[in-house]
Amino acid sequence: MKRKAFGLVSALALAAALGVSACSTTTGGASMTPPAIAPAPGPQAVDSHTYGRPEIARVVDVALDLTANFQAKTLSGTATLDLLTAPNAGEVILDIRNLDIQSVSDAAGQPLRFDIGPDDAIKGQPLTVHFPAAEGDGRRKIIVRYSTRPDAAALQWLTPAQTAGGQKPYLFSQGQAILTRTWVPTQDSPGIRQTYSARITAPADLTVVMSADHLTPEGEAAPNGQKTWRFRMNNPIPPYLIALGVGELAFAPFDNRTGVWTEPSRLAAAQWELEPTAAMVTAAEKLYGPYRWGRYDLLVLPPSFPFGGMENPKLTFATPTIIAGDRSLVSLVAHELAHSWSGNLVTNATWNDFWLNEGFTSYFENRIMESVYGHDLAVQEQVLAWDGLQDELKSLPADDTKLHLNLTGRDPDDGMNTIAYDKGAAFLRTIEGIAGREKFDAWMRGYFDRNAYRPMTTAMFLDDIRAHLVKGDARLETALKLDEWVYQPGLPSNAVAPVSHAFEPVDVAAVAFFQNKGPASAIPWSGWNTQQRQRFLSWRPQGLAANADWLTDAQLGDLQSTLNLANEGNSELIFAWLQIALAHRYQPSVVTAEKFLTSQGRRKFVLPLFQTLWNEGDWGRAQARRIYAEARPLYHPVTAGSVDALVGRP
Ligand code: BES
Ligand code: ZN
Repeated sequence: MKRKAFGLVSALALAAALGVSACSTTTGGASMTPPAIAPAPGPQAVDSHTYGRPEIARVVDVALDLTANFQAKTLSGTATLDLLTAPNAGEVILDIRNLDIQSVSDAAGQPLRFDIGPDDAIKGQPLTVHFPAAEGDGRRKIIVRYSTRPDAAALQWLTPAQTAGGQKPYLFSQGQAILTRTWVPTQDSPGIRQTYSARITAPADLTVVMSADHLTPEGEAAPNGQKTWRFRMNNPIPPYLIALGVGELAFAPFDNRTGVWTEPSRLAAAQWELEPTAAMVTAAEKLYGPYRWGRYDLLVLPPSFPFGGMENPKLTFATPTIIAGDRSLVSLVAHELAHSWSGNLVTNATWNDFWLNEGFTSYFENRIMESVYGHDLAVQEQVLAWDGLQDELKSLPADDTKLHLNLTGRDPDDGMNTIAYDKGAAFLRTIEGIAGREKFDAWMRGYFDRNAYRPMTTAMFLDDIRAHLVKGDARLETALKLDEWVYQPGLPSNAVAPVSHAFEPVDVAAVAFFQNKGPASAIPWSGWNTQQRQRFLSWRPQGLAANADWLTDAQLGDLQSTLNLANEGNSELIFAWLQIALAHRYQPSVVTAEKFLTSQGRRKFVLPLFQTLWNEGDWGRAQARRIYAEARPLYHPVTAGSVDALVGRP
């Protein structure tokens, strides 16, 4: 691959020049109007997971025209990329992985020369498109004709049998972290924001939704029994947020700006469960400023969706495992909604700064929960997260417990653990506690306004908080330990463990049952909420040796039957129960595990349960292999890839 030589000075000058045209449309973010073109990523935001060289030529808009072929499991058609080019730029470099590129042309249809570089297992390949260099800053369009492969990592093609309705196929995408390049040839870096539009053609009996404005709510007739659906996203977004869902879908509103899409047979349950969404948007706006994306809808996916949720703008994607029947798991909606500020508006510049997305979002999520459900529930959720964090801190290599990561040469997926979430949230809670809520909230709101539609790094965050919150107050600076929090492993000494009084009776009951071997009938289970039940089931003896059996089959049997755990419907509780039961090789729980692992594919549940089985010698490994052989066809590539690495491909 040829690269133009740029001296440091001229490269910086170019970056500045490329940014200038954008700055005139950016009003510091405080305005509600998004910039048509986002600012260029600065030199501080160099992303090792892209081949793109935005200082030479950067993608500012993507227009997709794709047809979904469910027989071939391909999306094929064109991506028209709008480029902003530096003077004398003769090429643009895009990220692709596992794509078939048929041709590249200019806006007039004249073919352009392109070459595809060597394949990197993590990053994929650079697609370099050459064009005649022009003087001065320029705009130009290139048209890439291409097709995805059936095993594109971002896409899952479901057979009718893998859906709730059982009649129609289904397709959905999952772009974060660096998977968009497996279905869209673009500069796939979170610092390189792009607006997008799309025309998606699919069989006429299916509905197409995207993370964008829906321009054709009913679709438009297209040849061969198909329909075409058109979309537009006017706010520049990082490409990992381009998202697509195709299936038999129905919609129900919560209020005039929020609602839920899902399969028709699931709609009533989803509408009831997720109705608090409307109040959450209002609560979020009251905390940290206007919601800038127009509608906020949810898409509840089939059970193979590999994540709990994904914050695709205007349309959060969610696992059906949050439909518990009692609204007990709606904090997931608060989380994905919070990303409309932290992540989608102010975006981690590179995956090294993932905590700026997830830590801020986990903090904000909890504030939304506090506003809508009160302080008591919010603190219960803080404690559950804090306890999870203590376990994670013990099990990870020290380097991976820093907030700021160095993921160069690693798959960003590997570096993504709950540290970013729970240590990140604990950090912001610490600042809130020391600075006071009023001051902290004013800073946070300003942070979103000042940095809207911009990439953010840990160093920029430190500059921002020093300039706008610390303001030279030496005592405050010392008390906060900002650098230690973001650059050192573990937890600084100013971290404060949250305490929930609602967990006191739970802990008493847990000691009585687990430690003093009392009867399960003494557990006041029916009086507890889901978070108290989670607390109970995650109780462990102090200083427990790995693999220690600390419960008898009789105790586990008493627990299972008294609490009716074999018929539990709440996914978090099934998961928590199976973690104990399988670690004790409790045979009657294996049917529950088999049912759970073959009926949903959320990686957060699936991988730890297979790991628990795997730790249980020949017994567990035989069960793991047997269940995985049955379950794998259901799983998304993201989940299957993780389990393959543990259990092996069946
Ligand atoms: N953005 C994440 C999901 C994600 C992270 C996808 C990294 C790919 C790579 C999303 O907001 C998230 O954090 N989801 C959580 C739920 C949340 C309530 C903690 C999940 O999926 O479990
Ligand atoms: Zn998140």
